[in-house]
Amino acid sequence: MSGKVAVVTGSNKGIGLAIVRALCKQFQGDVYLTARDVGRGQAAVESLASEGLKAIFHQLDINNLNSITTAAAFFKEKYGGVDILIHNAGIAFKVADTTPFAVQAEVTLETNFFAARDVLTHFLPLIKCGGRVVNISSFVGPRTLNKCSAELQQRFRSEDITEDELVALMQRFIDKAKQGEHKQDGWPESPYGVSKLGLTVRPVCLEGFHWFFYFTNKL
Ligand SMILES: NC(=O)c1ccc[n+]([C@@H]2O[C@H](COP(=O)([O-])OP(=O)(O)OC[C@H]3O[C@@H](n4cnc5c(N)ncnc54)[C@H](OP(=O)(O)O)[C@@H]3O)[C@@H](O)[C@H]2O)c1
Repeated sequence: MSGKVAVVTGSNKGIGLAIVRALCKQFQGDVYLTARDVGRGQAAVESLASEGLKAIFHQLDINNLNSITTAAAFFKEKYGGVDILIHNAGIAFKVADTTPFAVQAEVTLETNFFAARDVLTHFLPLIKCGGRVVNISSFVGPRTLNKCSAELQQRFRSEDITEDELVALMQRFIDKAKQGEHKQDGWPESPYGVSKLGLTVRPVCLEGFHWFFYFTNKL
């Protein structure tokens, strides 16, 4: 149980892979490339190896609680915790996708908000002193906030919103989308935007260390 470790979720391609590449060049410690699919993850590790970079693979499907707890237990056992967690995994339906809005709402929030919450719930207790946690959100989150009703904006911007209330609001969006009433209820037409809005909300938390802080810096 020794050494520093950085973990990046959803890093077999795209921005996550680029972050792993940069960490391999700059971070003094082990860098874990994680992916839900073992084949895609290992192929990405091999592609970095062909560039002379050493990343280590660990399976992590953020939609699978067992996968999250297995990975968390591994890092606790092998490294005594995690120094850097970059939560990057996310999904977005293409604009032209014809999947019904209610399905897009449920599937998008399931990964980008609820699964992100699961990852952070299980990994934040592992973050070492001086460690860092970064959630990859999107500028679309704040833009979506500005399109919400005044009532929703007031809650999302309030300093006393709790994790439970935030979760309930995200669930309300899904429920209203299923009933075809999300617009009347004050929500814009963007499941991705709502999911990233939920990830970005940063309430003042009097109870201490909470999963929805953007960055952590335990002293
Ligand atoms: N691209 C942009 O312009 C942009 C802008 C702002 C924010 N972002 C955010 O940046 C992050 C990365 O975006 P990107 O453009 O690099 O997307 P991407 O190329 O589609 O990569 C997304 C990554 O997340 C992984 N992933 C999806 N669901 C997962 C799950 N359940 N468990 C584990 N991994 C999962 C994907 O794995 P698979 O290969 O297995 O699908 C893939 O590795 C996302 O959170 C996105 O919302 C992107």
